[in-house]
Amino acid sequence: MRKDDAPKPLVFATRPIAEQALVELAGFARVDLWDDEMPPPRAIIFDRIAHADAILSLLTDRIDAQVIAAAPRLRVISNLAVGVDNIDLDAATAAGVAVAHTPGVLTETTADLAFALLMAAARRIVEADAYTRQGRWRAWGPRVMLGRDVFGATLGIIGWGAIGRAMARRAAGFAMRVLYMVRAERSGHKWRESAAEEIAGAQPATLEELLHQSDFVSLHVPLTAETRGMLGAREFRAMKPGAVLINTARGEVIDQRALYEALAAGHLGGAALDVTSPEPIAPDDPLLTLTNVLVTPHMGSASHATRLRMAQIAVANIRDALAGRLPAYCANPVVRMRGAAN
Ligand code: DGY
Repeated sequence: MRKDDAPKPLVFATRPIAEQALVELAGFARVDLWDDEMPPPRAIIFDRIAHADAILSLLTDRIDAQVIAAAPRLRVISNLAVGVDNIDLDAATAAGVAVAHTPGVLTETTADLAFALLMAAARRIVEADAYTRQGRWRAWGPRVMLGRDVFGATLGIIGWGAIGRAMARRAAGFAMRVLYMVRAERSGHKWRESAAEEIAGAQPATLEELLHQSDFVSLHVPLTAETRGMLGAREFRAMKPGAVLINTARGEVIDQRALYEALAAGHLGGAALDVTSPEPIAPDDPLLTLTNVLVTPHMGSASHATRLRMAQIAVANIRDALAGRLPAYCANPVVRMRGAAN
């Protein structure tokens, strides 16, 4: 068979992505698309990945060692996300499978949402909108809908990666004092946080200092063994009374029950969460009974332009791997990829 006659490689895409990127993908691969709003059940993942050369996965797809072992042809797991906590990186590396992701393009969009959540929680925007719609706005009142000032307040940023720094730049525009904590690095891992970039007025702090002094605490760490549960009852107690927590990272970074207790006891002033554990949050989760909590459906990167760029990068990562090159955005660059020249 001539090279031109060889069948195109097979890519299992676990959800429809931006149309333009799907067309690009179909230009060099056969696309086995799971065309549904809900993630494919695990049995379907096993079934489809058995013949796939690549998978275009989402953060809702658990690609663990068992799945990887069931994929003898697989060369790349291309995740439509910057986070790769849904993937067993070590198992992929051992199997010669590259893990690709989409860093960079979603930085500003995610920081926009984190700052929007901070503003909304501070000024009770969601609560105020409900108040209006429910016909409770009867007159301007000197004690109605009082919130917190954002300007001049102290923002503690946990995780000084690209998104954390983008959050700090926004805070500088509101004359906030910024404290940041550089997360401990894990050697051999792709996540690097350069402490070199200076953001006007931002000062490094220990976790303890940051929790004690911040009016707002915003999480910007990936989910790793080190960050799982990093904020629990002890840390919430250490936060300033009335402080507000913002989480656009991963739900598992905090102990959600302990957060509820700190809020219900009146110690914390509010929380704005774009991520929860589990996702979606259970409708009867006690957090949803609190008016000073707002929860959005994991939409940090959800702008039209950013989701298109993410999809294009995910496709380009697949193209690279299928051509025998390490993907441009590879989370396990030490991998000796199946079928590659390295
Ligand atoms: C990510 O990229 O990891 C976000 O959580 C989704 O965009």
